[in-house]
Amino acid sequence: METVVSGIRSTGKLHLGNYYGAIQNFVKMQHEYNCYFFIADLHSLTTHPTPGDLHGNVKHVLVEYLAAGIDPEQSTIYIQSDVPEVSELYLYLNMNAYLGELERATSFKDKVRANPDNVNAGLLTYPVLMAADILIHKAIKVPVGKDQEQHLEMARTFGNRFNRLYNNEYFPEPYAFSFGESLIKIPGLDGKGKMGKSEGEANAVYLSDSPEVIRKKVMRAVTDSGPTSENQEKPQEIQNLFDLMKVVSTPDTHDHFNDLYNKMQIRYGDLKKQLAEDMVIATTPIREKINDIAANSDYLRKVAQHGADKARESAQRTIKEVRELIGFRNF
Ligand code: TYM
Repeated sequence: METVVSGIRSTGKLHLGNYYGAIQNFVKMQHEYNCYFFIADLHSLTTHPTPGDLHGNVKHVLVEYLAAGIDPEQSTIYIQSDVPEVSELYLYLNMNAYLGELERATSFKDKVRANPDNVNAGLLTYPVLMAADILIHKAIKVPVGKDQEQHLEMARTFGNRFNRLYNNEYFPEPYAFSFGESLIKIPGLDGKGKMGKSEGEANAVYLSDSPEVIRKKVMRAVTDSGPTSENQEKPQEIQNLFDLMKVVSTPDTHDHFNDLYNKMQIRYGDLKKQLAEDMVIATTPIREKINDIAANSDYLRKVAQHGADKARESAQRTIKEVRELIGFRNF
């Protein structure tokens, strides 16, 4: 059975981008693959959370993984820092990761631009840690959104470099995966780029948002004053709403509003109302489970321990072989 790895940073509540870009695929893949899904708490240290925040955020992601339908009996669910072998592999891979290529990573350049006072080494080597996450289980498929594509390319580069140095066949090449034809990018509600945690609270719809909050956020989404000719190309902020509709609504609903747009009969208020209701329908089954799961600390502890044990078994196997290949003490 092929191995699958993916993770989500523990930086707070999960939004529709995380769900459609990643988690929905995790849930589908767990029946067909040997799956490892983790909570990337080491990655979240680049922004220096307090111990209290870190603890709460890790728990949030674990609870929402379970509420969204990741089954701990089918998948290995673990917290990254519970598997120290990942950090060890990260150190080895760092020896063959070069400053120029790390500086050129789009995510690094974005972070430098957004926060020039916190350009730390962890941020620079973020893709190396990500490669270690994937290679530690020798994964082949990595379900992620479009924004992670470059990181996957870098993971292949680092794995191949290790192979060339020590053993040509050791690490398989991992690829970004989605069930659809291409990787997904869910837009935010601000009329600009992707939905994200750092793009502002109102830009993202969270899985835990109440129906009232969802309605309010969607009704405030940026629109224009309407089409000025039939069948015209949609401006970005309108295209974003249609893209959201494509993932949360039925194809008939999407096509109905698309026809209205093309005939210049669209009323954005109706479109937004429908979009909000479909988001409520999509998130309600998850939201309703969140509180119950969060209240069950014993269960959460068991899931995390069981996952850590299983993930470590696999990681220890890899690290033992990696140490032998590198040539550490063998007497
Ligand atoms: P993170 O925590 O930013 O996002 C987690 C997952 O959600 C996807 N995603 C989106 N997909 C579509 N549209 C969006 N607007 C959107 N926003 C987020 C991301 O593509 C991702 O799949 N570096 C990773 C975490 C990570 C990881 C790994 C992933 C660490 N190690 C190893 C895979 C394998 C990250 O920061 O994701």
